[in-house]
Amino acid sequence: MPSFDRYATDPGDSHWQVPATGAARFSWEAVFPGQKEGSGRDRLLALYQKGKDKQWDGQTRIDWELEVDPYDPLGTPDEAMSLYGTKHWAKLSDKDRGELRRHYASWQFSQFLHGEQGAMVCAARIVESVPDLDAKFYSATQVMDEARHAEIYGRFLHEKIGLLYPINDNLQSLLGDTLRDSRWDMPYLGMQVLIEGLALAAFGMIRDTTDKPLPKQILAYVMQDEARHVAFGRMALRDYYKQLTDAELREREEFVIEGCYLMRDRLRGVEVLENFGVPKAEAEEYSERSEFLALFRKLLFSRIVPCVKDIGLWGKRLQQAYVDMGVLELGDASLDLLMHQDEEIAEKLDAERFAAEERERVAEVEAAIEAGGR
Ligand SMILES: [Fe+2]
Ligand SMILES: [Fe+2]
Repeated sequence: MPSFDRYATDPGDSHWQVPATGAARFSWEAVFPGQKEGSGRDRLLALYQKGKDKQWDGQTRIDWELEVDPYDPLGTPDEAMSLYGTKHWAKLSDKDRGELRRHYASWQFSQFLHGEQGAMVCAARIVESVPDLDAKFYSATQVMDEARHAEIYGRFLHEKIGLLYPINDNLQSLLGDTLRDSRWDMPYLGMQVLIEGLALAAFGMIRDTTDKPLPKQILAYVMQDEARHVAFGRMALRDYYKQLTDAELREREEFVIEGCYLMRDRLRGVEVLENFGVPKAEAEEYSERSEFLALFRKLLFSRIVPCVKDIGLWGKRLQQAYVDMGVLELGDASLDLLMHQDEEIAEKLDAERFAAEERERVAEVEAAIEAGGR
């Protein structure tokens, strides 16, 4: 069945068109990794090399045989559901609660899927518009990474949950603003810093709390790639923002502030509760009241705040906005450490899976020898 028929609500037209602005740029510089005479771009070319070395295939690295209960795909505890403790929760049968879990997981992973497609398109835009060839090379590896991520989330939704949600309106509008802007740094800022920063934090929270092996594998492996993407955004913007005037920096900060509020307040899965007959205003109130979701919303900024600070967008207004949101202190976290951990978690998961397979193989051989000896 094509996935278009699996949408919980009508996603509208089957394509979304965003008119392109800005120039396609070529560079006649020949650059390559390991280049001797100081191109001054060694770090970016090393990242490009790493991007090539670390490609993997979701069709083989992920164990798609693992079963997933579509009515509890992530092992979400009751308290984590925004309806928990409300008058609606008491009225739900076990079957309804399972259905609600399925819709939430579908909504969440559908936003991941659409976000990954957005990341692929933004990375392709960077390939086209960024002036230097080394940045084009690197970004081309990211286009492939994001294609693989979109493929994997699509397969998970299609095969394991059997339900998709349309892109959230506000995520779509942020994505549209990012793509319509002709300044070449805006796809980096909107996508690599804001949307990917949020996504990465959400991936991390689910990776670290789910007890279900398939989503855990998916998230751990996707996050291993994302560490490179964040490094790229930081490298490019840190250098560029040093040259901008105060007024130009303030414009970028305004964009970040607006995007952060929008994502915090308008990306909550209220659509799911509306589907279950809860009026919008009431659904918003429940998500506001839920202690669990309040913590989730705060932690959503754990990757963005240190990144924004690091690239030099740390003016008074931005700091004040983060004070208001209660997330300013997250700016002190070490992004390098977080990224390093993401890579380690994926490698450790590989090692554990390999060791378990090896044990199984040895047991099979031993059983065969024993059977043969009888
Ligand atoms: Fe991605
Ligand atoms: Fe990414």
